[in-house]
Amino acid sequence: MRIFVPRDAAALALGADKLTAAIAAEAARQGVEATIIRNGSRGMFWLEPLVEIETPEGRVGFGPMTLADVPGLFADLPAHPKALGLVEAIPFLARQQRLTFARCGVIDPLSLNDYRAHGGLAGLERARGMTAEAICAEVTKSGLRGRGGAGFPTGVKWETVRKAEAAQKYIVCNADEGDSGTFADRLIMEADPFLLIEGIAIAGRAVGASRGYVYCRSEYPNAIKIFNEALRIATTAGMLEGFALELRVGAGAYVCGEETSLLESLEGKRGMVRAKPPIPALHGLFGQPTVVNNLISLATIPYILAEGAEAYAAFGMGRSRGTMPVQLAGNIKHGGLFEVAFGITLGELVNDIGGGTTTGRPVRAVQAGGPLGAYFAPSQFDTPYDYEAFAACKGLIGHGGLVVFDDTANMAKMARFAMEFCAHESCGKCTPCRIGAVRGAEVLDRMVAGHARPGDLDLVKDLCETMKFGSLCALGGFTPYPVMSAIEHFPEDFGGAPLPLA
Ligand code: NAI
Ligand code: SF4
Repeated sequence: MRIFVPRDAAALALGADKLTAAIAAEAARQGVEATIIRNGSRGMFWLEPLVEIETPEGRVGFGPMTLADVPGLFADLPAHPKALGLVEAIPFLARQQRLTFARCGVIDPLSLNDYRAHGGLAGLERARGMTAEAICAEVTKSGLRGRGGAGFPTGVKWETVRKAEAAQKYIVCNADEGDSGTFADRLIMEADPFLLIEGIAIAGRAVGASRGYVYCRSEYPNAIKIFNEALRIATTAGMLEGFALELRVGAGAYVCGEETSLLESLEGKRGMVRAKPPIPALHGLFGQPTVVNNLISLATIPYILAEGAEAYAAFGMGRSRGTMPVQLAGNIKHGGLFEVAFGITLGELVNDIGGGTTTGRPVRAVQAGGPLGAYFAPSQFDTPYDYEAFAACKGLIGHGGLVVFDDTANMAKMARFAMEFCAHESCGKCTPCRIGAVRGAEVLDRMVAGHARPGDLDLVKDLCETMKFGSLCALGGFTPYPVMSAIEHFPEDFGGAPLPLA
């Protein structure tokens, strides 16, 4: 009997290691021959730890499992109180279009054989028979856009680096996943790390780079451990063909998710933002042409190469091609990762898929795209999940995070939090962000405390304009998004009249 118990950080936090030991002991006690495989997470966090048992019909799930549920696990499977039936048939999973996350939770993350048996390495093998130019053209044709948030066409970025002449070029993977409510990078590193290694190896071939770095946040010790082990296995197996790949750990600054400060940090310096131009594609790590891609962009590459650009581009809407791993978090019943083609509406994601709030209270606001993303009101729930549609609502998709709040949330306090966050995380290089965020938090403090002075609201709006247009990078430039969206959609929290219900 094969039993799967996740080794994902969320499952571990909920006792997956103790559960594994208890299952092994119980199997021995009952004389059941059991092989326990430590898989990654399927991304359904409300069911963790989610234990799966292989049956002739498929893998059946049990969750959320506790130690008390273990003794009954080898009896009548369907009658077990935590039985969920076939895992693939759980609606949250069955409704997804998993291209990038297809193997997450399915395979043993540290088995290269398992990876290959489930379609892994097909993209790299195809890329080996292609010219660098053809690989870049294939990625451009797929329509893949940067999954870190800016949505710049990945193939165009690669082509810029490919054409640049230099003795040394680099691939840098941005795994400094700092956005609130996001965990897609972590899931890949813990559930399917060879996928990322394969994507980086393809990128190296495409642009002529022989060295690369994964820059991961220090808050992900489990992901770092699993990825490093996978990297050792891949290197020993010759998967990287001489490409030198290393994982480097950040030191906890949000701004190091911005590509130029990430490069500074990689070079061993303080994470300060560099002015652009020059763009990193031409003048990046140690001054050399560098591809800086978000982890999800790189993890999407193997599918595109294996299945072809058209297969990927067949998903999505408008200029947003392919799928996005939407991460549902905050006050939401079914928190987890939902990979789906662009075009699904925000309301479907929050209400149908996410099941509304955990508290059972009405949804008041959803913050999309991290701490610097706009707040959406339920009246905007028909907005399609698409880069352009979100931009038209003065919002952003960012790295795919959605954080849900119920009707007890005070949106003036949330606006204040955005300013405080910016003040705390600012690298200090430019004045609108360094000083503006501090002043913004002070004024909003007065408003939250009920001591607003005449003109304070206009002052906040004015400050937001200055930060938006005068900041050097997205940290200062995007802080106005949560602030202004809160003021626009929830004026009653700022002393204004409530908006009429849609
Ligand atoms: P950007 O628009 O300046 O650049 C996007 C990417 O395209 C960069 O890698 C840039 O170097 C590259 N690029 C631009 N022109 C190019 C060219 N001609 N050839 C090759 N490459 C080129 O955006 P930036 O400053 O990198 O990021 C801002 C975005 O980050 C925002 O739109 C926001 O959505 C997102 N964001 C993400 C956060 C996160 O934690 N994931 C947090 C805050 C913002
Ligand atoms: Fe630094 Fe803020 Fe200016 Fe960005 S906007 S360069 S984080 S001071």
